[in-house]
Amino acid sequence: MHAQDFSLITNIEGRKTFSLNGNWQIIIDPYENGYYNYRYEPAENGYFKNQKPQNKSELVEYDFDKSELLKVPGDWNTQMEKLLLYEGTIWYKKDFNYSLKKNRRLFVHFGAVNYKAFVYLNGEKLGEHEGGFIPFNFEITNLVKEKDNFLILKVDNKRSREFVPTVNTDWYNYGGITRDVNLIEVSSAFIKDYFIQLSKESNNKIAGWIKLDGTSMQEIKIKIPEINSENAFYANDSGYCTFSFNADVELWSPENPRLYEVIIESESDTIKEIIGFRRIEVNGPDILLNGKNIFLKGISAHEEAPLRGGRANTKEDAKTILSWIKELNGNFIRLAHYPHNENVTRAADEMGILVWSEIPVYWTILWNNEKTFMNARNQLTEMIKRDKNRASVILWSVSNETPLSSERLSFLKKLTEQARFLDSTRLITAALENHYINENTIMIDDPFGEYLDVIGLNEYLGWYDGLPEKADKINYQTKYHKPIIVSEFGADALQGLHGDSLTRWTEEYQVNVYEHQIKLMQRFPNLSGMTPWILADFRSPRRNLPGIQDHWNRKGLISDRGIKKKAFYILQKFYSENWKN
Ligand code: GCU
Repeated sequence: MHAQDFSLITNIEGRKTFSLNGNWQIIIDPYENGYYNYRYEPAENGYFKNQKPQNKSELVEYDFDKSELLKVPGDWNTQMEKLLLYEGTIWYKKDFNYSLKKNRRLFVHFGAVNYKAFVYLNGEKLGEHEGGFIPFNFEITNLVKEKDNFLILKVDNKRSREFVPTVNTDWYNYGGITRDVNLIEVSSAFIKDYFIQLSKESNNKIAGWIKLDGTSMQEIKIKIPEINSENAFYANDSGYCTFSFNADVELWSPENPRLYEVIIESESDTIKEIIGFRRIEVNGPDILLNGKNIFLKGISAHEEAPLRGGRANTKEDAKTILSWIKELNGNFIRLAHYPHNENVTRAADEMGILVWSEIPVYWTILWNNEKTFMNARNQLTEMIKRDKNRASVILWSVSNETPLSSERLSFLKKLTEQARFLDSTRLITAALENHYINENTIMIDDPFGEYLDVIGLNEYLGWYDGLPEKADKINYQTKYHKPIIVSEFGADALQGLHGDSLTRWTEEYQVNVYEHQIKLMQRFPNLSGMTPWILADFRSPRRNLPGIQDHWNRKGLISDRGIKKKAFYILQKFYSENWKN
């Protein structure tokens, strides 16, 4: 059912935590002077030592205590004017005291740091992490002191060709400690990870596995109080156990997002998680939720904070974004192009919104680079590990608009194998492109489609390809007897700019595109869902049209100030009609 890799601690909010959110001292270090000596070698006494002059003559050329502050969580770009386009290193420092009792263990956990983090505690390096949208943690049990701990990070958001994503993206490179930071205290023998889902055999059976850390051979109880369910199992000599038991649960769905409190108890630890139970499958060109055909009425979204801009990260941000989906009469969201913060997937569980979650294997990745592949694979692993118990998440996407080549196919195929190895219960997809086979026929036959459960397809008829009415003339064909989700179509409009329906950048032009695209969707082969591009305007340094874009991609149905454009209501009306189910 699941792989054996258990490095990440999951369900942070179900554990004893001590938040390190708030003001952190920072040093802006574009030349990485705090890390390299003048020969460009890693320095012995970098900024991570937090040195102070020991006498009036000693030379120390930095001082966190006299430095500026940045809020954590939060991108640095929107906190200081001078950092709006900054790409480079910023050092962060947080002081804390902590009394850790005997037989207790302590971890420091980061929701996400974009893009690369070197982490130090009390001058000692804990480790490094690469990837800007996934969680990671380090154990600090043997390093933490009662008083005056200093946690220092070197955060570097410089883009690089071999990274994931690579140097060219159509979103903003928001740098920093962009999600929560917590200390997590656990017993020396604790419940580190678990997977609890509807079994594949029956809707009245729950199955999965549990992994203990720091012990083995313990009895483990799984309780679901609401249905008076309690079952006991025994971990093996590596602290791992698989289980299955009968349970009469109501299935989770958008109409009835039924969640249960699940309690896992070992002999030395207890953890609670709120879990929904549902089944997602494909049957030929259909997607089935709990055995019934479902049409995914969705929209794509970047992790742009509603109204204030910058990286979204709070529960309120998540609720606002998902409430807009509800207002659209939608039941689905594509979290583009990277895993969003955990508040979103947990809120989606509560609100009954289905989720497409994606890693940033975007455009021109270095397909031949082994480090690049391992990075992509690790980001996929951490995305799945974090959200594997979220009923709302039904699709793992491994790429977006990647150019055809044999190297790309081999790279992506291995990612689908890793996804299926980690999680055999969800559907695997990717946003593909297409090509004309004659003037009015577009073919969907990307060879990567062979390895997907669901085909995602991006197309921009009326925006990048012809004028809006061109969509009326085009017929799509697909080589695959599989469900298709049109994962992008759309058009830019500056909110409040009005004109006739062929004047580009006006709200009326955007309406024109949506009206023609909606007609096309109703005759699209194997269509099982759609996520037009995009819910809200988002920052992008690629968008340079003065007075219209100003470093914003304007394809949102909602402006960066939260004002709905006319096309919002066109899609809202379409989703209110049950033309498919
Ligand atoms: C592409 C891409 C998006 C991009 C969009 C656009 O399809 O997937 O990331 O923002 O088109 O051009 O607006």
